[in-house]
Amino acid sequence: MGSIIKGIGSYLPSRVLTNEDLAVKVDTSDSWIRERTGIGQRHIAAEGEYTSDLGLAAAKAALSDAGMEAKDIDLIVVATTTPDYTFPSTATMIQEGLGIHHGAAFDIQAVCSGFIYGVNVVDSLLRTGTAKNALLIGAETFSRILDWEDRTTCVLFGDGAGAVVMSASDDENTGVMNSFIRSDGAHCKLLYVDGGPSRTQTVGHVRMVGNQVFKYAVKDISAAMLECTEGAGVSISDVDWFVPHQANQRILNGVAKRLKLKPEQVISTVEFHANTSAASVPLAMDTAVKDGRIKRGDLVMLEAFGGGFTWGAALFRF
Ligand code: UT7
Repeated sequence: MGSIIKGIGSYLPSRVLTNEDLAVKVDTSDSWIRERTGIGQRHIAAEGEYTSDLGLAAAKAALSDAGMEAKDIDLIVVATTTPDYTFPSTATMIQEGLGIHHGAAFDIQAVCSGFIYGVNVVDSLLRTGTAKNALLIGAETFSRILDWEDRTTCVLFGDGAGAVVMSASDDENTGVMNSFIRSDGAHCKLLYVDGGPSRTQTVGHVRMVGNQVFKYAVKDISAAMLECTEGAGVSISDVDWFVPHQANQRILNGVAKRLKLKPEQVISTVEFHANTSAASVPLAMDTAVKDGRIKRGDLVMLEAFGGGFTWGAALFRF
């Protein structure tokens, strides 16, 4: 038994915040942000619009793409760092939004790597028969945990959600072939949020030593991708499409150069979405599926790196 991806969908809030808009608030410029990151704009959730709303919209789009109904789902996993509440989980709120009262729902917290961790967890649960049809959702309102006076972080992130329907399958020619997850808590202070229920009883703000994170990201993502392909018995050159976490175009370029990937094989949405943390990989993948680049039967690799540090890669035949 394995797992296949039956459908994919995404959702972006309607409000767009451009680099020029930000340059009015903090000491930055469109040219600095574009040159250092590739980001041109980001979407920001409206007042009264929460992570569960974004995730629910993406989940409905993925169900429609899969030709399935909410009642078919018996597992909901949400990767998020910006839940509506400390508890209950955003997954149970989405479960309620879908009107289903069976199966299991829970959140996972691996920051920007959350969706890759989610593929590993959901694939395992489908393989063991715990569930038959799962929704894996990456949903974030990172705008709510940014220090809007800190130019080193506030220009980098945006809000959004992406979702896939994953189903148990005995089809040996398609589906998840391997997934690889890693973490190293030694570097937790290079990228973290300075608040939380136990330590400060506040939500806190994102803090990052960006240039340090950058170096680890390129090295660790490249290693994860090699490990993931080796474990699946294929080579990097067999992969049709690479869907990376969208943190910085220079990280995408650095990894592509190290692994000798063709730039046109690397899906990039960083210019339009910025870094949406756990939502960035499914958002980028949905973009490339909907515009016709990623097709059924293609070999696709996902990868991400984030706070913790956490990182990983997942390989599947779509
Ligand atoms: O999603 C989780 C993973 N996150 C990442 O992977 C992010 C990884 N890091 C990065 O993407 C990059 O390190 C950044 C985009 C965050 C920063 O780019 P950088 O080329 O590493 O710049 P830097 O941090 O070394 O800063 C260079 C200069 C500094 O000024 P001084 O000290 O040289 O005078 C910063 O203060 O750029 C300055 N700076 C800015 N200037 C204009 C930092 N942020 C800004 C800004 N606008 N928004």
